Amino acid sequence: MSPVLVNQTLQWQALQRHWETLRAQRMRDLFAADPKRAATMSLTVAGLHLDYSKNLITQETLDRLIDLAEAVDLKGWIDRMFNGEPINNTEDRAVLHIALRNRSNRPIRVEGEDVMPAINGVLARMESFVGRVRSGDWRGHTGERITDVVNIGIGGSNLGPKMVCAALAPYQTESLRVHFVSNVDGTHLVETLRGLNPATTLFIVASKTFTTQETMTNAGSARDWLLTALGDSSAVARHFVAVSTNAEKVAAFGIDTANMFGFWDWVGGRYSLWSAIGLPIALAVGFDRFAELLEGAHAMDEHFRTADLRENMPALLGLIGVWYANFAGARTHAVLPYDQSLRYLPAYLQQGDMESNGKGVTREGVAVEYTTGPVVWGEPGTDGQHAFYQLIHQGTQMIPADFIGAVHSHNELGDHHPKFMANFFAQTEALMRGRTYDEALSELLAAGMDEEQARFLAHHRTFPGNRPTNSLLMERLTPHTLGALIALYEHRIFTQGVVWGVNSFDQWGVELGKQLANVILAEIQAGKVTADHDPSTRALLERFIRQRKL
Ligand code: F6P
Repeated sequence: MSPVLVNQTLQWQALQRHWETLRAQRMRDLFAADPKRAATMSLTVAGLHLDYSKNLITQETLDRLIDLAEAVDLKGWIDRMFNGEPINNTEDRAVLHIALRNRSNRPIRVEGEDVMPAINGVLARMESFVGRVRSGDWRGHTGERITDVVNIGIGGSNLGPKMVCAALAPYQTESLRVHFVSNVDGTHLVETLRGLNPATTLFIVASKTFTTQETMTNAGSARDWLLTALGDSSAVARHFVAVSTNAEKVAAFGIDTANMFGFWDWVGGRYSLWSAIGLPIALAVGFDRFAELLEGAHAMDEHFRTADLRENMPALLGLIGVWYANFAGARTHAVLPYDQSLRYLPAYLQQGDMESNGKGVTREGVAVEYTTGPVVWGEPGTDGQHAFYQLIHQGTQMIPADFIGAVHSHNELGDHHPKFMANFFAQTEALMRGRTYDEALSELLAAGMDEEQARFLAHHRTFPGNRPTNSLLMERLTPHTLGALIALYEHRIFTQGVVWGVNSFDQWGVELGKQLANVILAEIQAGKVTADHDPSTRALLERFIRQRKL
């Protein structure tokens, strides 16, 4: 008997009917009808204040969404994750990024063994290493102090630490700069290394598998760069450390496993910044700040694990996202940080969300009959406002958006921050309220325009409104609030994966392209197309090979 898809449940069908009754509702009317709406649809957790009242939802919508969450046993899945059960069923692995930041040290067992001692052991090694590098005790091969750290990794071994390092730039010291190289395009490595001194540069090769083509290619070229300059292969020991689960491959690359920081197969790449993959973060801001990041995430974890679904911030955000994706027909989700230092958050969440929930079959392998992961995208405000907000305001599709900002900036410069945040509040208000034709017309007439022209222009100056947003406001972007924010999104993704019945923790979809690239690389290197390609790919490849020879 095949398992029931979520769209076949009564709860899903009730939501479909509910959408039909709500789709014509105006949010501005919902606010007018309920003066307490903003207060009842807000909550504060771990330093993050969420106002979700500017959504096209009512209390009934929330009741029905929670009925759906109960129907799919969201609470049970949360418990299974937190208890170390192998919920990544296609790889038969537990999913325990939450253990990496389990600051309570509550025992969490995988196959009967508490993982906390091993986690704490790696954290202690990281702390000691970070202390040595930052104090200048760890020296390069020629005895000089390390001034630059280059993290070589891709996907989860890059996006998380890169995003967090940018977000926590105000906490960094000038004396140790951290760089990130991910793309196998040689330009990335060449441009990063330009101007760096090999004698004072430390490389972190970050790869869970230590087989990823991009990372191993960049690591090899970085090693060549170092050895060409220092002329002694023993220099690798002082200039290369590794973060991986694969000690054998690390040793084969020539890195002493004493300089390797391990993690475990139950840490997914896109959920790994809390593990030793966070080493560049700890080097950049110091271990204590890294620990604060873990604490912020832990506070959100405890909330997600224990709070009632009705008061559960990640669950609510996840369910509201389901509401738009599956009932209102939204296809994308915008992440709009009003904080320049969160500029990499949208890219980070693209991997987090799209690699997790971009799935077309359920955990049991049954094809889904509904939309799963949305396209996640975004840019920091106000740059986004001058680029793509036009479409969010007046385009034909609904784009739910998260606005994220802080009360205080780390760089209070004149009235920059009030101006910046005035835009945050104005945009969410405009998206919700819109402007009716009559309002646009009255404004134009009041400004003295002649009636015919005003009647024409009012069509263009009408805003449909009813465009949903969540507002996330924190006092200040600190390691703690950032940790909570990232964990919030991780659990939002998890919630949605549970509703859709997919395994959010594998990523088989990236394999096929990788396999074909290996075949094609061999053909390029041989200068001859031999494999069975489609006519388009064959012609492109032949053209590429021909022009490379010129
Ligand atoms: O893109 C696929 C992927 O497996 C990601 O999930 C992962 O974060 C990335 O490649 C890098 O993998 P690794 O850390 O093993 O080099």
